[in-house]
Amino acid sequence: MSDWTRGYVADVDYISEFHRELSPTHLSFALLTQGLRAPTANRRFRYCELGCGAGFSANVVAASHPDAEFWATDFNPNFAASGRRLAENAGLDNIHFFDKSFAEFAQLDLPQFDVITLHGIYSWVMAEHRQEIVAFIRDRLNNGGIVYVSYNCLPGLAQVQPLRRLMTEAAERAEGTLDRRIDAALSFAQRLAEHGAGFFAEHAAAKAHLASMPPMSRRYLAHEYFNFIWTPLYHVDVARQMHAAKLSFAASADMAQQLDRLCLSPEQSAVMAEAPDLAFREMLRDYILNQRFRRDVFARGIERLRPAEARETLKATRLALSVPRGRVTVGAEFPQGLFPFDSGAPRSFLDALGEGPKSLGDLMSAAELSDSAFAPALEMAMALVSSRQVQPARSRADAEAAAPSAHRLNAAILNRSRFDDHMPVLASPLTGGGIDIDRWHRLMLLARVLGRTDTIEFVRDTLRAEADANPVSERPLPNPEVLAAHKMFLDAELMPVLRQHGIA
Ligand SMILES: C[S@@+](CC[C@H](N)C(=O)[O-])C[C@H]1O[C@@H](n2cnc3c(N)ncnc32)[C@H](O)[C@@H]1O
Repeated sequence: MSDWTRGYVADVDYISEFHRELSPTHLSFALLTQGLRAPTANRRFRYCELGCGAGFSANVVAASHPDAEFWATDFNPNFAASGRRLAENAGLDNIHFFDKSFAEFAQLDLPQFDVITLHGIYSWVMAEHRQEIVAFIRDRLNNGGIVYVSYNCLPGLAQVQPLRRLMTEAAERAEGTLDRRIDAALSFAQRLAEHGAGFFAEHAAAKAHLASMPPMSRRYLAHEYFNFIWTPLYHVDVARQMHAAKLSFAASADMAQQLDRLCLSPEQSAVMAEAPDLAFREMLRDYILNQRFRRDVFARGIERLRPAEARETLKATRLALSVPRGRVTVGAEFPQGLFPFDSGAPRSFLDALGEGPKSLGDLMSAAELSDSAFAPALEMAMALVSSRQVQPARSRADAEAAAPSAHRLNAAILNRSRFDDHMPVLASPLTGGGIDIDRWHRLMLLARVLGRTDTIEFVRDTLRAEADANPVSERPLPNPEVLAAHKMFLDAELMPVLRQHGIA
């Protein structure tokens, strides 16, 4: 292993996922629900992503915010290069990629940032690198700026810690590529569990966790569990570290974490209310929910809105469906039970959103809710956002301004879909984030762009060419009837959503 990796898995490609929490619109909504104004209200903000992986999320966000400027670094040169290539293919000139470690990056001549994000980094690097990150935030975050940081946390992962150690030690002693060593480690741990090892007998959560791992992609497992470092953290410790850079906890980007009525029983809420400070309160929440992963937003001197202004701003905030109306689930499960979407006001909200993006105020009118029902209306909106079927959206003017650059990025993503399935998301000018689109649908959209009328044949030819070039892959070609059904779904259900997002 070469020196720069510092124990980090560097010999496996990363999956180009889009993490919606990296979208300024999502972060801004999370803050607004807590009565706080994000520093991205002005279009010309500066945004920095630390440990950006293959740079896909950073490109999606940069393409949909053409007036803002983006910096992204990842010490893996393959990742930084792949981010830069995608930006070049899309003609994005507002994003800069670097293959620098956090410490090297801090030495560059950089501006002050309004937003710094790090997803899947903080608990996967050594304490020394966490200190570098905090120092970077201390020196580079503007007053009024925010930091989004996600991390594996305790107590939810307490039982997984010894399981991971067992697997990394077994993988180290196995032969072959990392994929093979991961396979060997998984079956080794499984044998121990099956043979009644006391650890697994006593820790059912560890056994269940192990059982959930074999179907997961080896790339994901490599980055998630097989790094030299894997340190689940307590929120109080992260809050203390951020405090050293003059930041305080502002909100969770995980909307469910802000829906106390749906997540906590009245008795649990009462215990939490006894916490004398915010950090301890959040820690209690993690114990109540046995939290494994946190998505925290910290702020350095944020603007707190007056209650009436917060309400007015939230009522003016637009929301949009990110799945076809007919595919929205009947409800979402929360720790305190099912929150139904198929009746009453949530159903009216969804029907109205089926016609196009609407402000929360308009949704309340559609559901005939008066101003006194603002709190439950906001809870509904947050539950829908938390279910990932609705996203906060931007103003019409912002969406229009973002359309040209988002279209260029989407053209590059669609073209790339001819050769692999590495970029499963299209940039949405409407939300300033991304929307999941599977590969067959992306290829069908590409056929449209190319003016091909033989869509099904185009998709089959593309997949056949890929299979011919890669004889090891044994994936059968989808049959024309299955593709035709997908095309019907695309035309009838998905296209209206894509049009609302300004994607098609
Ligand atoms: C788990 S991945 C997360 C990638 C991306 N943020 C995402 O969520 O898809 C962690 C990333 O951090 C990068 N990384 C780890 N240590 C680093 C360091 N000291 N400096 C810069 N990048 C680092 C790795 O190369 C890797 O791409």
